[in-house]
Order: sequence, then C-alpha cells, then structure tokens
Amino acid sequence: MKNKITKTLKKALLRVSGTHQKQAKPYEFISWLKFANAGTLDNGNLYCFEYAIEHLPSNSPVIEIGSFCGLSTNVISYYLQKFNKLNKLITADKWIFEGGENANEFLTGSNITHNEYKLFVKESYVRNTAFFSKNHLPYTIEQFSD
Ligand SMILES: C[S@@+](CC[C@H](N)C(=O)[O-])C[C@H]1O[C@@H](n2cnc3c(N)ncnc32)[C@H](O)[C@@H]1O
Repeated sequence: MKNKITKTLKKALLRVSGTHQKQAKPYEFISWLKFANAGTLDNGNLYCFEYAIEHLPSNSPVIEIGSFCGLSTNVISYYLQKFNKLNKLITADKWIFEGGENANEFLTGSNITHNEYKLFVKESYVRNTAFFSKNHLPYTIEQFSD
C-alpha cells in the first residue's frame, strides 16, 4: 500500500514538475528566434503548435489571438513553412494590456507611459514578424478578438 502511494505521488510530482511534458522537436531556428524575440512561450505551446500545424485538416486560415511581440506568430509561421502548409495566418492584438487602459498613465516606477509601451511592443511585433517571417507574413488586425 505504502509503495503504491509513493509511486502515485512520484508520478504526480513528475507531472507537476513538467518532466512528463511532451517536447517539440528541437529546431535550431526556434532557439535563435527565442533568444531575440520577446514573448511568453512555454515548451508545451511549441509541441502543440507543431502537432496542430503538421496535422491541419484543411487550407483554412490559422487564427492567432494575442501576438504581443510576435514570438508565437513567428513560431506558427515557421511551422507552416516547415510542413509546406499554404494556410494564411491571421493575427489579432490591440496591444492594450491589462492595467494599461489609461494611455497617459506611467508604468509604475518609470517615466514611460502605457501608450509609449504599447507603441514599443507593437513596433517590436512589426519588426520581428517582418524579419523572421518574411516568407510567410501574417495578416494582422489591430483589434480585440471580440
Ligand atoms: C501573454 S501575451 C501573448 C504572448 C504571445 N503569444 C507570445 O508569443 O509571446 C497576451 C497578448 O494577448 C493580447 N490579448 C489579450 N486579450 C486579447 C483579445 N481578446 N484579443 C486580441 N488580443 C488579446 C494582449 O494584448 C497581449 O499582447
């Protein structure tokens, strides 16, 4: 009984610590991209993107909601090209972040306004996608998804 509990606990711990997380193939390009392109991707996202794109059921457009600085956009665009998919990539972001609705307010502890921050992130998105996804550019809508 004690053994069974220990085994179950060990399994749960492995799951929580991510050791059992499925891994995307280690493409060198993705490593270079992650160094240079700000963003919040988890390795599990990479695995899911890769799987979903390799198994796309049609040529319908792929939609991304929330691109931030373009890291996930560039990853999706990379996989689309890797797997020779012709699907267009459509992305949406208004670059108005939680807590940043008041454009003229400063980011706490700085002399940068939320509007300046938004413009910086948006310009980063444009530059990052123009550079890393030049052969499969996304169609980007500056709006909330709803
Ligand atoms: C956690 S970041 C996304 C990270 C990004 N995918 C990456 O690879 O780094 C969340 C982004 O989603 C955007 N966002 C949040 N809600 C949204 C909505 N309803 N429609 C469009 N964009 C949204 C935010 O402006 C922000 O840029």
